[in-house]
Amino acid sequence: MSSFIPLSVPDLSGNEAASVAACVRDTWVSSAGPAVTAFESRVAALCGRSHGVATSSGTTALHLALIVAGVGPGDHVIIPDWTFAATANAVIHAGAIPYFVDITSESWTIDAGSVEQALAQFRGGRIAAIVTVHALGHPAHMERLTAVGTRFGVPVIEDAAGAIGARYHNHPVGGIGDAAIFSFNGNKVLTAGGGGMMVTDNEAWAARARSLSTQARDGVRYRYREAGFNCRMPNINAALGLSQFDHLDDMLKAKRRIADTYDDALRDRADLQSMPRCPWAQSNNWLYSVLCASRDDADGLVNCLQGDGIEARVFWETLSDQTPYSAFPRSLTGVAAAISGRVVSLPSSSSLGEADQSRVLAALAQWRGNPVMRFQ
Ligand SMILES: Cc1ncc(COP(=O)(O)O)c(C=O)c1O
Repeated sequence: MSSFIPLSVPDLSGNEAASVAACVRDTWVSSAGPAVTAFESRVAALCGRSHGVATSSGTTALHLALIVAGVGPGDHVIIPDWTFAATANAVIHAGAIPYFVDITSESWTIDAGSVEQALAQFRGGRIAAIVTVHALGHPAHMERLTAVGTRFGVPVIEDAAGAIGARYHNHPVGGIGDAAIFSFNGNKVLTAGGGGMMVTDNEAWAARARSLSTQARDGVRYRYREAGFNCRMPNINAALGLSQFDHLDDMLKAKRRIADTYDDALRDRADLQSMPRCPWAQSNNWLYSVLCASRDDADGLVNCLQGDGIEARVFWETLSDQTPYSAFPRSLTGVAAAISGRVVSLPSSSSLGEADQSRVLAALAQWRGNPVMRFQ
């Protein structure tokens, strides 16, 4: 019987086990230890930033980024409707209100034109930040977004949770907006077991975020600058993340090879449309995904692959129509709604071997859906 092919598992084939064992041996398993600052420097350098602040998750990194960017209670924050819940939740945790805008059909990332329109026309309060998401590891159109942000004096924060290593016009993502965040959860290209990071060139923002992540405690005394959080990354996670850097380039190359192989195999299919590849984007191919003609087809494809021992998953659904977010303001063109529930992610682990990918391709070849209806 053939083995199960997972959607996305971490590649821990380098020095990870030894690095974690060294933390245990040296008792550097918790909030103190040398790996956290080293990991911050590595990630910041990767995207050309001066500062990195390592946190317990991508969600907490985004929460801190919003606070230090000046987002406060009652403010609005523009986010794309097609994203993971964490993007909206971090806004809500900061006391602010998500303002949903749509994505473009070419990139599946936030529509800078809609952002501009929202900033020009919204009369319901202050819009304090724009969060752009590099969906599936494919960069958003940052040039247009940062121009809009600058014009309206609103900071742009990159939610690059799953996009480490991706490039926009050859600039690393995370190094373009006023600040950016990454996630190092186990399903990301580079994992720390769990964790996140805010990166920025703004020294004051970085200092405040670092302080907020450790209860805003002033030195070793029990004195506090403000009401903070406890969301600093533990050393043991940072050590794991650091050791992943030794083979990050190889993992990115493997992801590209896997994505190219899927692209080639699916090129002539009328029933599956491959994920976007815009001219400005060098995706990190975090999760290779395809658009099906309908939600039923997407469910059918997932079930069919499951029957062959292959894990696939229906990707993000729009947030604005889901109960926790349904009351928030929005300005939507219908693109996100049109793809919601129709995108299926295929096995994309960087350790996915050629034989296993051939099995996925054979299962895909057996399955037929309806021809993909283009975007409304
Ligand atoms: C777009 C986006 N933002 C934020 C997050 C949150 O990251 P974490 O799971 O590390 O909190 C994720 C996680 O996948 C994500 O996809």
